[in-house]
Amino acid sequence: MGIEPISTLLHENRKFPPAPAAASGFSRWHIASMDEYRQLHKKSLQDPEGFWASEAGCLSWFRRWDKVLDWNPPDAKWFLGAQLNACFNCVDRHVQSGHGDQIALIWEGEPVGPQTSHPSPGSAYAKEPEIRRLTYRDLQIETSKVANVLRRLGVKKGDVVTIYMPMVPELAIAILACARIGAAHSVIFGGFAPHAITERVTDANSRIIITADGGYRRGEAVALQKNVEEAIGQLANTGHIVNHILVLKRTGHEPPSQRFHSGHAPAAIGASPTKFHWWHEIEALVSDACPCEPMDSEDMLFLLYTSGSTGKPKGILHTTGGYLTYVNTTCRLAFNMIPDSGQIFWCSADIGWVTGHSYVLYGPLMNRVPTLMYEGAPNFPSFPGGKGDRFWDIIARHRVTQFYTAPTAIRTFMKWGEELPARHDLSSLRLLGTVGEPINPEAWIWYHEHIGRKQCPIVDTYWQTETAGHICTPLPGAIPTKPGSCTLPMLGIDAAVVNEQGEELPANKGGLFVIRKPWPGMLRGVYGNRERFISNYWSRVKDPASSTPYYFSADGARRDEDGYFWIQGRIDDVIKVSGHLLGTMEVESALVSHPMVAEAAVVGMPHDIKGNAICAFVTIKSKWFADNPGQQPGEELRKQLAAHVAKEVGALARPDQVRFAEGLPKTRSGKIMRRLLRDVAAGVEKITQDTTTLEDFSVVAKLRADEE
Ligand code: PRX
Repeated sequence: MGIEPISTLLHENRKFPPAPAAASGFSRWHIASMDEYRQLHKKSLQDPEGFWASEAGCLSWFRRWDKVLDWNPPDAKWFLGAQLNACFNCVDRHVQSGHGDQIALIWEGEPVGPQTSHPSPGSAYAKEPEIRRLTYRDLQIETSKVANVLRRLGVKKGDVVTIYMPMVPELAIAILACARIGAAHSVIFGGFAPHAITERVTDANSRIIITADGGYRRGEAVALQKNVEEAIGQLANTGHIVNHILVLKRTGHEPPSQRFHSGHAPAAIGASPTKFHWWHEIEALVSDACPCEPMDSEDMLFLLYTSGSTGKPKGILHTTGGYLTYVNTTCRLAFNMIPDSGQIFWCSADIGWVTGHSYVLYGPLMNRVPTLMYEGAPNFPSFPGGKGDRFWDIIARHRVTQFYTAPTAIRTFMKWGEELPARHDLSSLRLLGTVGEPINPEAWIWYHEHIGRKQCPIVDTYWQTETAGHICTPLPGAIPTKPGSCTLPMLGIDAAVVNEQGEELPANKGGLFVIRKPWPGMLRGVYGNRERFISNYWSRVKDPASSTPYYFSADGARRDEDGYFWIQGRIDDVIKVSGHLLGTMEVESALVSHPMVAEAAVVGMPHDIKGNAICAFVTIKSKWFADNPGQQPGEELRKQLAAHVAKEVGALARPDQVRFAEGLPKTRSGKIMRRLLRDVAAGVEKITQDTTTLEDFSVVAKLRADEE
């Protein structure tokens, strides 16, 4: 992969200075000026061990560390010799300090009103949605029960528990229950297809899956358990045995007796040795007391699979002490979290992604600020045209103070029109955040004006599954913002834009985004694959003087004359679609698994709402032409292929365009010329107006052969 030329040198000169805390509705800023930020940042890089030791002091440790950092590039160990527990830090210590009756988690279910009705904008919903409020004490009891259930099912410290659930409080409880007994969780986003489950369960050698019969999304019950059953069916062929499935009853659409009796596999699974258990039945059998297991700081807390440039997802490994310290600090500073100050934090991400792990769950709970969780879609109930105002309704009813969402969602809201937020009282909001992809200045300004009433600071947080938490973000009381820039590095982060030789580039030169020093939240590995850990993150760039490897994020970036970072996007073969990372190879593998596809190449193309959409170029097997004499592949096959990808990978991978080609353009060495295909997909190269006919790339390919 070569460095892409930075084609969009965005010149955005608007600057928004931070307001005094009182004007933003906060009692104080944690960091209140640019000078303070600069001093602290400098200090944090000069004495990282001192800085992080002091940050780690915000957590509760069962045993203090002997040493803060052991750095053998690229391997870092943080807080050596120390012991702590993640669930204890999120839950029990707040009960012990007398805050057991405070609200920890507010949950709102999706269903409201008569589900078929379309209320007119602004009208009250016919029936209130289901809302649950759990205190820290409730969480202590619930996580203890589930922890005891897991123990009863044979789960031990260090085992990997797979979780495939809807956005319900039990998802948070399941995760924390794992942490309570020292089992690692591996959460799979509920939108993924069965194949994704088999892949992840096998890779993690996981023997237990926690799921639900279903979850609600846009008024439909999404059948999660069915997907798990299908995955178990597929696993039977691989010899990997899942011992237990724990099923939460959420939708209850099928009477349990027809599905399964506890202990027996449903009929669909046949003679599988897997045992099925209803959550509510087995939970009734266990005690509600379970102490938190002391874990070594470097014990695995979780795996979270993310797409890479090969077809197989990578199990990103995070450990306990460093992850919690980093998330606690970033959450407090970027969102200016202050307990007991009336804050209600809402991050709209699904817990199946890292944003949900760090900023729906661990970050707010550690900071003792109530976290809101919403089960469903922003357009349910929907107005004619598929628009919705559910998010604004939720913010108004729950008096949300900090709201964190993705640019793709903001662009959708823009399309739906500012009338929708305008009908709701959003005056409780004090701070807005965005994450997942670069935000276009137009969307930033819309968010600022129509959601933030021009009063809320916007934190554009740049980070990755691998980094655990924000690595570049404005600190709301200190750093002036510029629409589209994630501004400056987090405390303790030594970020730079460099060339292939590791030399820092002058202002406004595009290059590689790297981090030059270790930080507590950095990934500790790719599960079971040392080679991928090294080659993906630590092989591209080195310190030119010492040859120490730098962490490379796979993003292109530039810094402007103020030192602000502008992220240009991925320069590897992964695409961000609606803020979700997808490997082009994953989609290509799904396509070639279709009996009619000979070869496939997948690239991203610009899309107004999604940021990028998937464009797939496919060559069709001669069998298809033999079966359909005299015909050209057309709309029907195109739809079939798109549906096939959605079935194999998940709906989020469904290509927006499927284009048929006689052959794919390749270099003399046989490499697919992706840059050419990207240009074609983006409409730069108008090879043919009619994309239903086969595309002939030979002419352009010849022209480009020398460039690749
Ligand atoms: O390309 C960057 C983009 O998202 C990638 C990380 O994706 P993932 O691991 O799924 O984590 C998403 C949530 C943290 C990055 O390599 N990205 C994320 N946030 C931003 C961003 N690009 C620009 N600006 C951001 N604020």
